[in-house]
Amino acid sequence: MLVLAVFVSGRGSNFLSIQRAIAEHRLDARIAVVISNRRDATALESAAALGIPARSFAGVAEAQQVAWMRDTLAEAGVNFIALAGYMKLLPGEIVAAYRHRITNIHPALLPSFGGTGMYGHHVHEAVLSSGAKVSGATVHLVDEEYDRGQIVAQRCVPVLPHDSVESLAARVLEIEHQIYPEALHLFAEDRVEVRGNRTIILS
Ligand code: GRF
Repeated sequence: MLVLAVFVSGRGSNFLSIQRAIAEHRLDARIAVVISNRRDATALESAAALGIPARSFAGVAEAQQVAWMRDTLAEAGVNFIALAGYMKLLPGEIVAAYRHRITNIHPALLPSFGGTGMYGHHVHEAVLSSGAKVSGATVHLVDEEYDRGQIVAQRCVPVLPHDSVESLAARVLEIEHQIYPEALHLFAEDRVEVRGNRTIILS
């Protein structure tokens, strides 16, 4: 069973989609703790309302943050980390301690439209101005750089002629809510094997 820490910075709709999948028995997991760099993240309120421990390291000195994360993850018995709208790089020590056990969701089809500065509306703006006819969402493993780890799952949506950033973002978000729980389910079933730059999904 996955014992999850979900890292968030804002709204938390992906966190809620993961929690819903667990409640509906589509995902064999338990969210042990929700962690945020921001004290005011709406996701923390949603977690607390669901009785899920919600913690922020906003008041923790930079030099103490790795130790705080290690302790918080260990105390909660976490064996897998899901980043869901988390706007910071995870410290290298945490990436190393949970190698191949950390995922992120990105609102475009990586390896395009990712990397530093590619978050939120910037991603959809870049997709629209590229003229691409499809966008989508990507779940990938997390390494030491933004949006670079091995891809685990992707799904496409069309880019429509009259799309705005908002309409495209909404279409992508809908499939984010489908593929993140599905991708985590693959890990829960131990079906993700990492081979070099790729993942192999075992049937
Ligand atoms: C999502 O679009 C996700 O792909 C990106 O940040 C957004 C977070 O949304 N990484 P939410 O906080 O899960 O609602």
